[in-house]
Amino acid sequence: MKPLALALLGSALMAQGPEFTADGKLMRPNYREWIYLSSGLGMTYSAEAKSEASFDNVFVSPAAYREFMATGRWPEKTMFVLEIRKASGHGSINQGGHFQSDLIAIEAEVKDSAKYSDKWAFYSFGDTPGKPGDTARMIPNGSVCQTCHGKNGAVENTFVQFYPTLIEVARKNGTLKANYEAPVPAPESHR
Ligand code: HEC
Repeated sequence: MKPLALALLGSALMAQGPEFTADGKLMRPNYREWIYLSSGLGMTYSAEAKSEASFDNVFVSPAAYREFMATGRWPEKTMFVLEIRKASGHGSINQGGHFQSDLIAIEAEVKDSAKYSDKWAFYSFGDTPGKPGDTARMIPNGSVCQTCHGKNGAVENTFVQFYPTLIEVARKNGTLKANYEAPVPAPESHR
């Protein structure tokens, strides 16, 4: 292959994982072309905190997804994006249920054992509605992000228990954390 073709191929592959600016900020990828894992609707993590319902959409870098499907493990340079959008009720012909609308926030998570003391690092592209930044600084170690993900994620720091096509792969490969507790299904009357 000619050097130029190799360089182009290299940059195409690079774009499938985390990319950083010269001063170390994480660049917002074109994650809508990555692998979509699932959406949460109005998920809240404490009994009292009930904010307005929103959707969160989870995307993962394609190379990391393929490796996970084969081994149940996240390789180095795995990158996740959590896109949070408003849940709207009335609009156009819709009479019931919810659809996704305005962007609320974009968050990210990167695995790099050599670079981060906690292996995984968290980033937020900002929470200005509709205007997330193009770059994000790492959220310092010891954040609530790290505490909750580290304690409750089913595979390493990640919430594989909420991604229906991945949980079975982790189970089959024996990569679920020893202290992982499966979500308790709602009683019949709540379905
Ligand atoms: C109290 C627990 C909790 C805290 C605090 C928290 N998260 Fe999460 N996070 C979750 C859950 C649960 C999911 C799964 C969402 C779904 O199923 O749609 C998730 C998913 C994610 C994902 C998708 C990849 C994954 O790990 O499964 C990213 C990226 C993410 N969160 C970033 C952050 C960032 C950045 C912060 C801090 C600013 C943060 N989170 C704080 C519970 C938490």
